Amino acid sequence: MYAENGRGAMAHLLLLAVFLPLCTQSQPVMSFPPLQLRRSIPYHLTCNVLDYGAIGDGLHLETTAIQAAIDGCASIGDGRLIFPAGQYLTGTVFLKSGVTLVVEKGAVILGSRLQKDYPAESKQWYVILAEGAERVGITGGGVIDGQALKFVERFEERKNVMVSWNITGDCLGDECRPRLVGFIGCRDVHVWDVKFSEPAYWCLHIVRCCDTSIHDISIHGDFNIPNNDGIDIEDSNNTLITRCHIDTGDDAICPKTYYGPLYNLTASDCWIRTKSSAVKLGSASWLEFRNLTFDNLTIVDSHRGLGLQIRDGGKVSDVTFSNIKISTRYYDPSWWGRAEPIYVTTCPRDSKSKAGLISNLQFINITAISENGIFLSGSTDSLLSNIRFTNVNLTYRRWTKYRDGLVDYRPGCRGLVNRSMAGIIMEHISDLDMVNINMRWHGNGLKGWDKPMDFTPSTINSIHFAGFQSEMCH
Ligand SMILES: *[C@@H]1O[C@H](CO)[C@@H](O)[C@H](O)[C@H]1NC(C)=O
Ligand SMILES: *[C@@H]1O[C@H](CO)[C@@H](O)[C@H](O)[C@H]1NC(C)=O
Ligand SMILES: *[C@@H]1O[C@H](CO)[C@@H](O)[C@H](O)[C@H]1NC(C)=O
Ligand SMILES: *[C@@H]1O[C@H](CO)[C@@H](O)[C@H](O)[C@H]1NC(C)=O
Ligand SMILES: *[C@@H]1O[C@H](CO)[C@@H](O)[C@H](O)[C@H]1NC(C)=O
Ligand SMILES: *[C@@H]1O[C@H](CO)[C@@H](O)[C@H](O)[C@H]1NC(C)=O
Ligand SMILES: *[C@@H]1O[C@H](CO)[C@@H](O)[C@H](O)[C@H]1NC(C)=O
Ligand SMILES: *[C@@H]1O[C@H](CO)[C@@H](O)[C@H](O)[C@H]1NC(C)=O
Repeated sequence: MYAENGRGAMAHLLLLAVFLPLCTQSQPVMSFPPLQLRRSIPYHLTCNVLDYGAIGDGLHLETTAIQAAIDGCASIGDGRLIFPAGQYLTGTVFLKSGVTLVVEKGAVILGSRLQKDYPAESKQWYVILAEGAERVGITGGGVIDGQALKFVERFEERKNVMVSWNITGDCLGDECRPRLVGFIGCRDVHVWDVKFSEPAYWCLHIVRCCDTSIHDISIHGDFNIPNNDGIDIEDSNNTLITRCHIDTGDDAICPKTYYGPLYNLTASDCWIRTKSSAVKLGSASWLEFRNLTFDNLTIVDSHRGLGLQIRDGGKVSDVTFSNIKISTRYYDPSWWGRAEPIYVTTCPRDSKSKAGLISNLQFINITAISENGIFLSGSTDSLLSNIRFTNVNLTYRRWTKYRDGLVDYRPGCRGLVNRSMAGIIMEHISDLDMVNINMRWHGNGLKGWDKPMDFTPSTINSIHFAGFQSEMCH
């Protein structure tokens, strides 16, 4: 099946049901890793930050007292470090092996807004940082707050202009602010029952870790702050994220690979709203991503729903998205995304990059209402392969001042390219199965969406449809 450019194939009522024999059956959905969620702390030792000189008045900088408490507690054995109700203003503190921070209800750890309270090197700019630690965690029902609004140089509804800590030349442009919490090279990490508020930059950063569970947390970032990511998981194995509420400006759950592969990640039972992608693989994508499961997510009013932005030659395979509700809308071109519910792309970032490979993706039980269609794009020497959609209901409706006619290949690649919209745009794909796909088109403002599907001629190998319906609703 093939629709020519400009043919305007979307009739007022288009009912299509094509039944073809299918080569493959949908594979069972497996979740990785089989980690236990932590509900209590398995250690008896208890320390209290007040015993180490902290006062919790929110005015005095308490970095030294908090660090003394962490070090003191760690030197005795594995245990919990209690922060009773109060406000603890701090620069970077380093979490040590065996210590779980218990930020109790009513307690707030407040990140300092002054560069002098953070280490010299920007790679250590976090309010709380664990490096090479084991059996570490954060819990207790309280709040960790990055005071992001104090980093805004100029408020703008489309995108705030942020302070940049670039005087040392250690980092560049507007990505020069502290992250909130980082675990780097750690093992056995548990973060649960805690609220993260107003990160100045990325919120929760998991780097080169193994066996991490994050559950029953909330992240609240400012909607107009750039790089206000929710959870970034880099080069890490066995990560479980569940029961999270994430409402923030930038990508909400964002696996990346820079120096090592990323295997076994499950994210489930989460609610997400973002001005960028709710789930995004990439764009840093130098190595492999494998065995990723995203299940039971509710994505609301986001700039993009499920996104793969593979740009650096890495390989993505065995990824399942199931039971996901998505609503996307358009905000502003300064943010990546054009309200695509699903966006799967691999292309070389620039002339020095290779195109990465994407294969074995499943999308099962997906319902979306969106201002734009699905975009599936491999590249000439790197086809998307073995992509399967099963039970997907797509409703198309416009309610913002959406500007039609652009396809978004950013970052890098071909940038923004003029092209009319379609229900699903496909190019450079081999083996695509679509089973039970319903499209519903609503009301006005659909000008420029002239076809349910747009296949770029001669770039698609082997597509199967079974049960495909597209209809206009009034
Ligand atoms: C620091 O960042 C600001 C704001 O992005 C920019 O105007 C300035 O040129 C940068 N300075 C240096 C030394 O990079
Ligand atoms: C993840 O697993 C792979 C394969 O075993 C290994 O090469 C890599 O170093 C692991 N990553 C970490 C952070 O341990
Ligand atoms: C991923 O999970 C599977 C199943 O539990 C396990 O066999 C495999 O070793 C894990 N991979 C890594 C790199 O830990
Ligand atoms: C799906 O996630 C929501 C939280 O977003 C939860 O309330 C609900 O119980 C989950 N559903 C299933 C079937 O687990
Ligand atoms: C992916 O999951 C399968 C099934 O559990 C497991 O056998 C395989 O080792 C995993 N791959 C990696 C790279 O962890
Ligand atoms: C899609 O819509 C059909 C018809 O309304 C409904 O039976 C089915 O459950 C829906 N599927 C999903 C995944 O929402
Ligand atoms: C898809 O939805 C159907 C109907 O709700 C359910 O029976 C099935 O288990 C779901 N599939 C997956 C992979 O979750
Ligand atoms: C893209 O579309 C815009 C608006 O219609 C037009 O001004 C511009 O010339 C087009 N660019 C190309 C390369 O066709």
